[in-house]
Formats: sequence, structure tokens, C-alpha cells
Amino acid sequence: MSHALFEPFRLRGVEIRNRIWVPPMCTFAVDAQDGVPTDWHLMHLGSLARGGAGAVIVEATGVVPEGRISPQDLGLWNDEQRDVFRRVTDLIHSQGAVAAIQLAHAGRKGSTWRGWGERKAGTVPREHGGWTPLGASPIAFPGLAVPVELDLEGIRFIVEAFASSARRAVDAGFDVLELHGAHGYLLHQFLSPLSNHRQDGYGGSLGNRARLLLEVVDAVRAEVGEAVPVIVRLSATDWTEGGLTPDDTEQIVLWLKDRGVDMIDVSTGGNVANAAIPVGPGYQLPFAERIRSNTGVPVAAVGMIDQPYQAEQIVATGQADVVLVGRESLRDPNFTIRAADELRYELPYKPAQYERAYV
Ligand SMILES: Cc1cc2nc3c(=O)[nH]c(=O)nc-3n(C[C@H](O)[C@H](O)[C@H](O)COP(=O)(O)O)c2cc1C
Repeated sequence: MSHALFEPFRLRGVEIRNRIWVPPMCTFAVDAQDGVPTDWHLMHLGSLARGGAGAVIVEATGVVPEGRISPQDLGLWNDEQRDVFRRVTDLIHSQGAVAAIQLAHAGRKGSTWRGWGERKAGTVPREHGGWTPLGASPIAFPGLAVPVELDLEGIRFIVEAFASSARRAVDAGFDVLELHGAHGYLLHQFLSPLSNHRQDGYGGSLGNRARLLLEVVDAVRAEVGEAVPVIVRLSATDWTEGGLTPDDTEQIVLWLKDRGVDMIDVSTGGNVANAAIPVGPGYQLPFAERIRSNTGVPVAAVGMIDQPYQAEQIVATGQADVVLVGRESLRDPNFTIRAADELRYELPYKPAQYERAYV
């Protein structure tokens, strides 16, 4: 029985204790709508780290207020947020995990109601903390407001916002940064011909549509220096005729590789409301495997990877370097400990305080 899942993995100078990481998952829990982490975030993220994950990637965090998905999202556009995030990274580190954060701009999918509870439809009005969403082109995501098309000044402002949030993230103690280029949020909106109808240097050819993402990557790297690993999450396909394809994605990854991006987190979809997605165990894995073998860039696979043997096989056979376990980590924050038990691996960082639970 191999134990590839429990081999450490290195991104630049950062050693990560295993290959089971937690992907970003919004909790929409900032009731004060000020983007500042609360005790909820500490408890939630700390328990995921305590459960043995190698890295915990904090949920999509807005680089500007209007870059949030809902008014209850986390943010990293001011120093107060940065200072409170320091408690989050200290706690994750105290449990032996690497602290990562997903920096995001929601674009036309911003100002939505939070994704739990009443689940209201439509764009949140201003009196409830909402805003007018921004986008690559004035094309609405179905059911949401028509976004205001970003002008060149607006684009420049967002590139700078990603860089200054990255600086704050590093100053807050985050070891690894992830840029959200997937799921129909702003960077993906620029990449996809379905949502980008621009006539300027940010629209048209794939190179032009990728310009914003590449500018963000360059600005972040210039701001944080060479030591900090940068992951980019991409949607490898729009699952829709006329949308972004796996071939496009492979080219984008090669451009990202030239710019020193350290890993691709390979997801799919999110830019089309009713795409037919063949959801099932490991359904996005072929896209990750293809990127890894054709570009040589390390990949994290995600999407219905929730069984220990399945996860072990993915890493052991080189389909991906790392697996991200999302919803199963919410159901069982101790998934890594359980996986080690099931795979008969003596996990050195199983909490001693819980010893009697495992005799
Ligand atoms: C509650 C919830 C919130 C999520 N929030 C984010 C997010 O903030 N950023 C992101 O890139 N993906 C987000 N996702 C997608 C997950 O990161 C992951 O890709 C997806 O759940 C598939 O993996 P799984 O089958 O292991 O859950 C979210 C998923 C869930 C269930």
C-alpha cells in the first residue's frame, strides 16, 4: 500500500505536510459586512487545520468591497482586515498546516445574496449592503444585474487591488496565495468569450482575454517577491459551445508557467447558468491530468474527491500532485486523520489529545 497522499509537497520554499488540502469555500459569515474575519472563521478554519489537512485555503476574499460575492464575504482591502487575519494564520500554523488564501474579484457575479439560509434570488439592493456589479462587458449573468463595463482606469485599479491585497495577505502571515480565475468571477469573465465582448486590448483574441489575468499575476509577483508561491484556480472549460475550452486553458497555463505561477487548481464551469456538467466522482480530474502532463505545471485536482482510496490513487498514479477535498471536509473536518486511518498510515500529527478515540 503506497502512501503518496502523505508525502510532503513543496511550493517554492514552503513545505506542506501532505497532499490533502482544503479548497476555498465561502461561508458568507461576516454579518457586519465589513470583510473582517470573526470567531466563526477562526473556529472553522482552525478545525480544518487541526483535522490534518496539509494546507487550508481561505475562502474567496474580496480585493475590493465590490469584488465580494455577497456583502457577507471576507475582504482584504484594508489594514484592519489584515490585522485580524493574522489571528487566522497563527491558528492554522499552530495546527501544523500551511495557510493559503484565495484572492478574488466577483465581477458581474458580485452583490448576490449569501449562499445559505433564505437564498434570495437577484442582486442585493444598496440598502442591504449591495452594489452595482462590474464586468468585462455589459452582459448579465442570468438573474443578476447588468454589470457596468470596466474602463481602462477601472481595470488598472483592480490589478493594483490584487497586488495590495496580496501584500496584506503576506503581511498577515499567509504562506501561499491563490488567485481566483475560475467559476465565472471577474478574471474568468475576461477569459471567456461568452462574457467578454470587448473591442479593446482586453477582448477578442485569447491573448487579449487573458491579459487581465496575466497582469494580475505579474502585479502580485512584483509586490510579494519570489519567495511566495502563487496558485491560480481556473475553470478548464465552460462546458458550453462557444465558451472557454480545454485547449484554451492549456495555452493560458503555458503563459502562467512563463510568469512563474507555481500550481494550477483545476476546476470547471461557473460562467454559464445551466451548463450540462457530468457531475460524478472525480469529474474534473481529466482536466487536471491533461494540464499536468501537457504543461508540466503541478496541479491540484478538485471535485467529488471524497474517498481515501480514491484520493490516494489520484496522487499515487500522478494524475495530480495534490487533491482538494471540499464538501467532505465540511462534513468531516478530520477527513485527513480518517483517511490515514483507513489507509493504515500512522499520521504523525494526529492530535495526541484525541488518542483514545483511535485505540
Ligand atoms: C459552500 C461552498 C463554498 C464554495 N466557495 C468557493 C470559493 O470561495 N472559491 C472557490 O474557488 N470555490 C468555492 N467552492 C467550490 C469548492 O472549492 C470546490 O471546488 C467544490 O466544492 C468541488 O469540490 P468538492 O466536491 O470536494 O466539494 C465552494 C463550494 C462550496 C460547497
